[in-house]
Order: sequence, then C-alpha cells, then structure tokens
Amino acid sequence: MNKNFNLTVVYDNNPFDPALQTDWGFSCFIRGAEKNILFDTGTKGSILLSNMNGLDIKPQDVEIVVLSHFHKDHTGGLSALLKENPHITVYLPDFFPSTFKNSITKQGASYVNVKSYQKILANVYSTGIISGWINEQSLVLDSHEGLVLITGCAHPRIVNIIETVKDKAKKEIYLVFGGFHLSGFEDQEIKEIIRFFKKSGVKKVGPSHCSGKEARELFSKFYGEDYVPIGVGTKIPI
Ligand SMILES: [Fe+2]
Ligand SMILES: [Fe+2]
Repeated sequence: MNKNFNLTVVYDNNPFDPALQTDWGFSCFIRGAEKNILFDTGTKGSILLSNMNGLDIKPQDVEIVVLSHFHKDHTGGLSALLKENPHITVYLPDFFPSTFKNSITKQGASYVNVKSYQKILANVYSTGIISGWINEQSLVLDSHEGLVLITGCAHPRIVNIIETVKDKAKKEIYLVFGGFHLSGFEDQEIKEIIRFFKKSGVKKVGPSHCSGKEARELFSKFYGEDYVPIGVGTKIPI
C-alpha cells in the first residue's frame, strides 16, 4: 500500500505562491491515498476554486472532504465545491448541525459522522472529536516517513491533539502542520509548547493559518531546517 503523499495547501492566510489568493482560512489537498482528500475548505468558495485551478487541481479530483470543525473559515468553501462535483463524501464531526448536513445531501453528496479515532482510508485516520472550548477533529496520514498530522485550528490545543495521536497511533510523528491556534500566546508559553513538540519526537513542523506570527518565528528558530514554511500554494511531497 502506498505510503507516499503529496500535500498542497490550497487556502491559507499566509502568502507563499504570489499567483494565488491569500485569505483567512485553511484548506489542504492530499494525493497519494486510495482517494484524493481535501482537508477543510477555506472561507470562500470562489477563492478555493480559483486557487485549486491555479494549482491544477480540478473539483472532480476531490473524492473525500474532511472538515475539522464548524467554523466558516474551514467549512465556507464546501458548497461551491459540491456544486462543481457532488460525488464527494464529507467526513464531519457528528455534532455539526443537521441544517449543514442536510445541505450536503441536498447537493447530491453524502456525509459520514465521525465520533472517535477511526480509519478513513488505508493509512488515513481521523483523530476523532477532541474536546476543547471548540471541539475538532484532525487528520493523520501514516506515511513512510512517519505520521503526518494536519490540524484545522487546533482549538482543543495542539498539545492535546498530539497526545491523542501518540496514544492512538503509537508511531513516530514526522510532521505536524496547519493551524496551531497560538496567536496572542506569550513567548514563554510558545517555547513550552515547542519543548513539548521536541520531547514528543515531532521531526518537522509547519504552523500556519491561526498559529500567529510569534509562534511561526519561534518554531522556525527552534526547528531550523525542519521548519516547513507554509502558505497558500506550499507543496509538501512525502
Ligand atoms: Fe476555528
Ligand atoms: Fe480557523
């Protein structure tokens, strides 16, 4: 079974590829599993589709969507995508409102309620719903380099998410990237979190979206070459 993945950030508020639009939100396209996955969908459908187009990703290429949590900057692009391609299964936390779930089926697509840690495809897992001030699921890829953990906003705290993954998957974590939700945190707190990452054996990091400038700078300083600069258009082959 293939354990190589190609990750492309298609929506982020951090710039990377100047040909693409930068906007608040997050979305990442994943090739390599038996089906192509879009993790989160950004805020605006028009920007999602235009960035995908700029990156040569067709709406028809998406087979599975995984939504991390019920915030517009992660769910906002879904209906525009389903309009172009309804042949998609959406994996969402089971607490999503029924109005949202009904809108998916009304567009001709289907959804799967996620509760606890579960396999989505071979070598692709959801962390299940992790509780916090806002409940959220994250995505785990079991790659040939180790686990790749992708987070939407990390509202239940990035440390708790990593603890869950270590506990459930019991494998080395190669890369953690996405929103770490560390804006407004004191430098001391961020350094403490970075120490936790290192102690947990996380080899590479790519804080983006809601991670905040300070956290990005500190992670970059402490991770050096193993810091992955993430912005809209970043491609990560694994
Ligand atoms: Fe959020
Ligand atoms: Fe967010």
